[in-house]
Amino acid sequence: MVMAAIGPKAFIHLDRLRSNLWNIRRHIGERPLLCVVKANGYGHGAIPIAKAISREPGVHFAVFSLDEALELRKNSINNNILVFSRMQPEYIELAIINNLILNLSSLDDMVYLKSHFSRYGKCPRFHIKFDTGMTRLGVNISDAEPLLDKIASSEGIYPEGIYSHFATADEGGISYAEYQLSQFNSVLEMAKKYNIHFKYVHCSNSGSILNLPQSYFNMVRVGMLIYGVAPSKDVSMDIVVEPVMSFCGSIVELRRVPRGTQVSYGGIYSTKKETTIGVVQTGFADGFPRPWFQNGFVSYNGQDYKIAGRVCMDQLMVDFGDETPNIGDDVLFFGKKDLDHLPVESIAESIGSTTYVLLTAIKGRTKYILLKD
Ligand SMILES: Cc1ncc(COP(=O)(O)O)c(C=O)c1O
Repeated sequence: MVMAAIGPKAFIHLDRLRSNLWNIRRHIGERPLLCVVKANGYGHGAIPIAKAISREPGVHFAVFSLDEALELRKNSINNNILVFSRMQPEYIELAIINNLILNLSSLDDMVYLKSHFSRYGKCPRFHIKFDTGMTRLGVNISDAEPLLDKIASSEGIYPEGIYSHFATADEGGISYAEYQLSQFNSVLEMAKKYNIHFKYVHCSNSGSILNLPQSYFNMVRVGMLIYGVAPSKDVSMDIVVEPVMSFCGSIVELRRVPRGTQVSYGGIYSTKKETTIGVVQTGFADGFPRPWFQNGFVSYNGQDYKIAGRVCMDQLMVDFGDETPNIGDDVLFFGKKDLDHLPVESIAESIGSTTYVLLTAIKGRTKYILLKD
């Protein structure tokens, strides 16, 4: 039995994480998985998430910042780690020392690598990122030829991987993703002419794992799906996954109030009959999605109860009707725990947000509780 403190809690179901990983693996075949644990593991806790799967076969990690990568190394994560962010000259030595993989995303980065190699005779491991239509980080397709030419003729500069990122793979139509893929394939063809071989070629994300198998190449990048959440409502979930996080908060007070009682800031919620209002210790400062109060509810003992009035910074109120919950019990905000199931996907859709925003918002005083089975 897990004794949990009062307040916001993110229960992390590590067994589900591992079974999600295996279900994804069954779907994509024998390819290494580049598991994205940036932004504190999508709000789940990068270190416990990485530790839970680091020994699974073929697991590599990707993070955004160099600091995130160093934190994984400090915590004895020895898998390959790719850093997505823009390369900075000062990253090069740190990447070499810590065996990290950098991102070459512009012709300038090639200048940094060459000058480091000519001064110190060393080059970090790196993957080349091409921009095929996201218009974010990545070498322009029009610069592919000069870059590949420089790489082919530079001593000591060997790219280990090549990749790109889809802008719309989790939208309904896949035509733009197919266009990006054709751009990427044209660079791969060009690289062959220069006799440049890449150990790792990767293009997918959760959306394209579900709807674009041509994007798998010889490594599959995956974020949201390992956390057991759909990347969007527009892709069909052909892989069985379960939510790794159950976000909960505890009931700290109950009050029986008459009809017409105003609840919370602005007094916009007024009770329709005599009812029990519970105070739950979790607020928007802990990552609770504030706009959800308008149509929102929480789940308790398998029943949904309406959020009463505006969510406060540290607390929110719930209309329990004639139910008498126990003070100290948790209500579920999203996830799946015991009798309660409330998909984060449905909250994201209701408030016009995304699951990425809601999960990475978890913060503040939220305590992480790791559930091993
Ligand atoms: C470069 C890159 N690759 C892969 C991913 C993972 O995407 P998803 O969580 O949709 O699988 C991300 C996430 O934002 C990303 O920025």
